[in-house]
Amino acid sequence: MNAEIRSLFPGAQRQVYLDISARTLIAEPVRAAIADHLRMRMGGGDKDAMRAVVERTRSSFARLIGARTDEIAIVKNVSEGLNLFGASLPWRAGDNVVLCPAVEHPNNIYLWHNLARLHGIEVRTVAPVDGRICVGTMGAAMDERTRLVTVPSVSFAPGFITDLRGIAAASRRVGALTLVDAAQSIGALETDVRKLGIDALAVATQKCLLAEYGFGFLYVRREVADRMAPIHLARFGVDLDAHETAYTVGSLRYRPGALRFDVGNYNYLGAAAAGAALTLLEEWGIGRVERHLRRLAATLADALGDLGLPVAGGPPGPHLAHIVCVGRSGGGRHYTADDPAMNSLHDHLAAAGIRLAIRSGALRFSVGVYNDDNDIGRVIAAARAWRDAR
Ligand SMILES: Cc1ncc(COP(=O)(O)O)c(C=O)c1O
Repeated sequence: MNAEIRSLFPGAQRQVYLDISARTLIAEPVRAAIADHLRMRMGGGDKDAMRAVVERTRSSFARLIGARTDEIAIVKNVSEGLNLFGASLPWRAGDNVVLCPAVEHPNNIYLWHNLARLHGIEVRTVAPVDGRICVGTMGAAMDERTRLVTVPSVSFAPGFITDLRGIAAASRRVGALTLVDAAQSIGALETDVRKLGIDALAVATQKCLLAEYGFGFLYVRREVADRMAPIHLARFGVDLDAHETAYTVGSLRYRPGALRFDVGNYNYLGAAAAGAALTLLEEWGIGRVERHLRRLAATLADALGDLGLPVAGGPPGPHLAHIVCVGRSGGGRHYTADDPAMNSLHDHLAAAGIRLAIRSGALRFSVGVYNDDNDIGRVIAAARAWRDAR
């Protein structure tokens, strides 16, 4: 990527920001879209115009992941998307859901235990292999009562890429659906839901989609969505031929595909931000963004490994996306590592103006489109200084 793109992100000039996996820096055109929305609202605003922004944003997102527009519902975050989909499935007691909680964000764990309580389903857990979701062990846990298999596309820590195509194929073999928590990959990795063969995917816009909290998308494959009764229903999910405030219960029909999952008014401000960010991503090209992020992450992983630091997953390989973790993953809590040396390295880097995170006990560096080789060089130099001083 070039200096021109970096210059759109004032926050990238003031620090080495390697924390897109928590939230992105905001670009100037996204700030401008938010300001325009507020200016329009100060004068009252026009609902049709706001709805049009939502629809443009929905279409841009559909293009980004190779879906149809009517396969995309608007949600407020990843959890809402996962919950809407999960709770709308026709569960029967004794059905099971297969997942790998050790690499899942808690928001893709709680809901399954809640559905176990509500419907008597079984939550079948599988351990990762070296921090990775293994298609073989996941497949071995599936049987004819498996209704759903859920995985992250990229785990929030240690950040490895999941073989979605392999998981979807294994799920299909037992007649199960595949639901993906794509919080950490959309906007960073090229994604084609058709090629992957997945059935549903949830993402929010505050990370690699370069926009704000409180806005997200739920993809549901059209054939799957058309068979589902949404757990929540409001006017935008109903097929109305009259004004939205008119209703006739007798003729209640859901809108086609995933549109039935839209609930009530939208976060129009969030849509304005997301729409502007998706326009930028479309301009730059997601393939180019992915190559940039993965190249910087590989450079960082290589150099930190050469310094003798315990880089998760070892040398760069196909597992590596835009997230590099250092330290033993799976221990600790958010915000502190188990290993005192990792806490000391974290504090040293933070004092050098480097913004990173600690997740699952490991240091997490996550690369954004605004980062450059100089940022990565500064991290490597600071890590070397810390090592040499010990
Ligand atoms: C994989 C993953 N899922 C979900 C979330 C968060 O979900 P929500 O935005 O619904 O709180 C995060 C990070 O915040 C994440 O990394």
